[in-house]
Amino acid sequence: MCSESVIISVLFPFYVLQRCYEHKQYRNGLKFCKQILSNQKFAEHGETLAMKGLTLNCLGRKEEAYDLVRRGLRNDLKSHVCWHVYGLLQRSDKKYDEAIKCYRNALKWDKDNLQILRDLSLLQIQMRDLEGYRETRYQLLQLRPAQRASWIGYAIAYHLLEDYEMAAKIVEEFRKTQQTSPDKVDYEYSELLLYQNQLLREAGLNKEALDHLTNYEKQICDKLAVEETRGELLLKLDRAGEATEVYHRLLERNPENWSYYQGLEKALKPKSVEEKQKIYEDAWVKYPKGLVPRRLPLNFLTGEKFRECLDRYLRMNFSKGCPPVFTTLKSLCHQKDKVAIIEELVVGYEKSLRTCKMFNQNDDGKTEPPTTLLWVQYFLAQHFNHIGKQTLALEYINTAIESTPTLIELFLIKAKIYKHAGNIREAARWMDEAQALDTADRFINSKCAKYLLKAGLIKEAEEMCSKFTREGTSAVENLNEMQCMWFQTECALAYKSLNKYGEALKKCHEIERHFVEITDDQFDFHTYCMRKMTLRSYVDLLNLEDVLRMHPFYFKAARTAIEIYLSLHDNPLSDDNKESQADNANLTDKELKKLRNKQRRAQKKAQLEEEKKNAEKEKQLKNQKKKKEEDEEEIGGPKEELIPEKLAKVENPLEEAVKFLTPLKNLVKNKIDTHLLAFEIYLRKGEMWDLKLIILFDLCLFSVSDSKDMPEAVQTVLKLEITKLFGESDPKTFNKNFLSKHHLTFLLYAAAKMMVFLDPSSEGMAAELATSLNESLTGRTIQVLQALRDGSLGSQQEKILESYRVACHGIYYPYALAFMPPNVHILHTNKKDILLCRISSFTAKEISKLSFILI
Ligand SMILES: *[C@@H]1O[C@H](CO)[C@@H](O)[C@H](O)[C@H]1NC(C)=O
Ligand SMILES: *[C@@H]1O[C@H](CO)[C@@H](O)[C@H](O)[C@H]1NC(C)=O
Ligand SMILES: *[C@@H]1O[C@H](CO)[C@@H](O)[C@H](O)[C@H]1NC(C)=O
Ligand SMILES: *[C@@H]1O[C@H](CO)[C@@H](O)[C@H](O)[C@H]1NC(C)=O
Repeated sequence: MCSESVIISVLFPFYVLQRCYEHKQYRNGLKFCKQILSNQKFAEHGETLAMKGLTLNCLGRKEEAYDLVRRGLRNDLKSHVCWHVYGLLQRSDKKYDEAIKCYRNALKWDKDNLQILRDLSLLQIQMRDLEGYRETRYQLLQLRPAQRASWIGYAIAYHLLEDYEMAAKIVEEFRKTQQTSPDKVDYEYSELLLYQNQLLREAGLNKEALDHLTNYEKQICDKLAVEETRGELLLKLDRAGEATEVYHRLLERNPENWSYYQGLEKALKPKSVEEKQKIYEDAWVKYPKGLVPRRLPLNFLTGEKFRECLDRYLRMNFSKGCPPVFTTLKSLCHQKDKVAIIEELVVGYEKSLRTCKMFNQNDDGKTEPPTTLLWVQYFLAQHFNHIGKQTLALEYINTAIESTPTLIELFLIKAKIYKHAGNIREAARWMDEAQALDTADRFINSKCAKYLLKAGLIKEAEEMCSKFTREGTSAVENLNEMQCMWFQTECALAYKSLNKYGEALKKCHEIERHFVEITDDQFDFHTYCMRKMTLRSYVDLLNLEDVLRMHPFYFKAARTAIEIYLSLHDNPLSDDNKESQADNANLTDKELKKLRNKQRRAQKKAQLEEEKKNAEKEKQLKNQKKKKEEDEEEIGGPKEELIPEKLAKVENPLEEAVKFLTPLKNLVKNKIDTHLLAFEIYLRKGEMWDLKLIILFDLCLFSVSDSKDMPEAVQTVLKLEITKLFGESDPKTFNKNFLSKHHLTFLLYAAAKMMVFLDPSSEGMAAELATSLNESLTGRTIQVLQALRDGSLGSQQEKILESYRVACHGIYYPYALAFMPPNVHILHTNKKDILLCRISSFTAKEISKLSFILI
């Protein structure tokens, strides 16, 4: 038994140790650890060992940290502190699943520990374990019903589970406890009200939402949001008169917001083009300088009326000298007749302005300044470039440049024309010219760098960027630090086209890391947003993070990486010279010798430079390290360095490719490129049939599901393709035939999956079929396991799954990981992999491409 003084001699320093950790005074903390552990009796004190490990982890000594924490835990398995610390350690290592397990263990020994519950809830929301999150938030609410965060967290849990009504009710319960005077401006209360209103709207309770808005209007700070929401709700409730008033008021605030005109149109419900036009004519009178009310009617007017309206719109803008006017009309370019009118009109202006300085010879003598002609030519250059007549476009832009050789915009367009014409070198040259006219313009600097990259001039592009990056570091490093992804994607493409696969892969991985970082950055917001009450933005953020990798930057990087990995799979690099071998193929022996010598000399020089650089880098690193130690803040160790040579010599390129593909398969299903990339990968993995099944699935899904929302052309093509596939029969018959053909091959499972898909009540039979172990069956497949797990052979197949696994493991595949007992190996499963990719947004051309693959 411990005497009181002994308890104090441990507990007190331990308490101080925890404080030290919380305040990031790690060195002090270590002193207290020493103090406790040096006492003979407590040399193996579990909690202290664990805390020491945690502290060392913060100082970057990860291995020691793990050793200590595990030792501590072994010494005191019933300590919630030890488990919590182990969880924190795993968390700092981003092993969130493991950390969650640790927290749960900690809670077993101290179930009401607030700190652990809070930490657990953070991990749950980060991992989107929404059910778990709700449970934890419920416990927190019960333990701390007086705290605001308890209520808000609980409401958010329901919101994310899409039970909007319940979420709104919880917020209401909480709101009732808030005492605010109706006249006081309280930003956080205002945000709470707006959040509650959003919940009501998402719950579809429009009437309640409108009443709510009216009741609390005075206490909401964001008056514009109130008015915009009111307009929206009135439209939904079909109260057109009031909605009209709201949108008139909104337009007075801002006549340039096109969505207000849209609201007005919805409220007034014009029955004809004339009535619709009238809405805008009223706006012309009220807001004579408004651009949007002049632009919008161009979308629906046609023929002579269109020309009239356009004429007025263009004249105003040309004489004012408005560079983006072409951009504002670009969205009309798919309407051929309108494009023709635009062209005829502006070409007419140009002729007339050149001869008599007027838009039209018949105008009443009002002459235009010379700049007007310039802008008209500028417009025409863009127009002809856009419709693919580059020769004409160049004529106009050259004439404009001749008259005003100092206007940067003209050079930008000239470069663009060359790019579209397919001469990227010339384009880069003109972009460089533009850049030289104003070296302080960052936009043009970036544009120029991008063109240089497209032209394969990587060094030059880096130099260009270095004019704006921080001094002291290389431009490339700085751009990576700043997550400048346009640069990195272009760089990757440039390296790839130069066959420098390692360098290209490095860029792709850097981009992938940015996305990982952005996901991790979420952590800071879970507590911050709830404290600041910015709940609407918080939920937006969570939703955004869920689909983050939909971003074109990710897509580009992933596609580049996948293509490189495919090529590395087909032609693995055996040695370093592979890259240059292709270039040397045609040289004679003598030439080759000369070249080798030259290369050797260059190599030596590069080596020297590299050494110099490394020495400098080391110095920098040392400095950084010192600084970090001073801050005592850096958590976890540094990331593994990306080394191009290593990346290019990858062991299993297809696995790497799949890593890049997976997010695309989940998030960018409606892009044909995703499926084509998947096709290329699976083809090489020998999963050809898997692929056919994917496509078959899609088409069936399609013929079964409601296809009313689809454009007619797409429907027609689909029907055609389905008939091609199934012949004259229907999917069920097709599947039956398929089954009888393949009932003794592993393709059995595909047919079984399809059976369930076409008729869910056939689950039992399908599962039996798929797991058949008939001796004459050729080949079994882990796809059956996967299908049993992901539910595509019916739900609740655990029993069959297990017996199938045991049978396969015992009889056929004793060494295969996939058939090992569950604890040994956890097979990746993913509901989304059920492969129901949507092709509804494909164009007809894309669909016929798809079926082309099939046939
Ligand atoms: C225009 O109005 C919509 C809502 O109706 C709003 O989301 C958008 O931010 C507004 N745009 C500007 C530029 O004010
Ligand atoms: C086009 O002309 C209008 C006048 O109707 C003017 O207000 C607007 O600023 C011009 N366009 C742009 C994009 O500046
Ligand atoms: C090698 O010669 C062939 C034909 O003579 C030519 O098409 C190819 O471009 C040459 N390759 C290189 C790298 O010069
Ligand atoms: C295996 O399949 C063949 C062919 O369908 C069938 O004749 C045989 O009875 C099956 N064997 C068993 C053990 O089910």
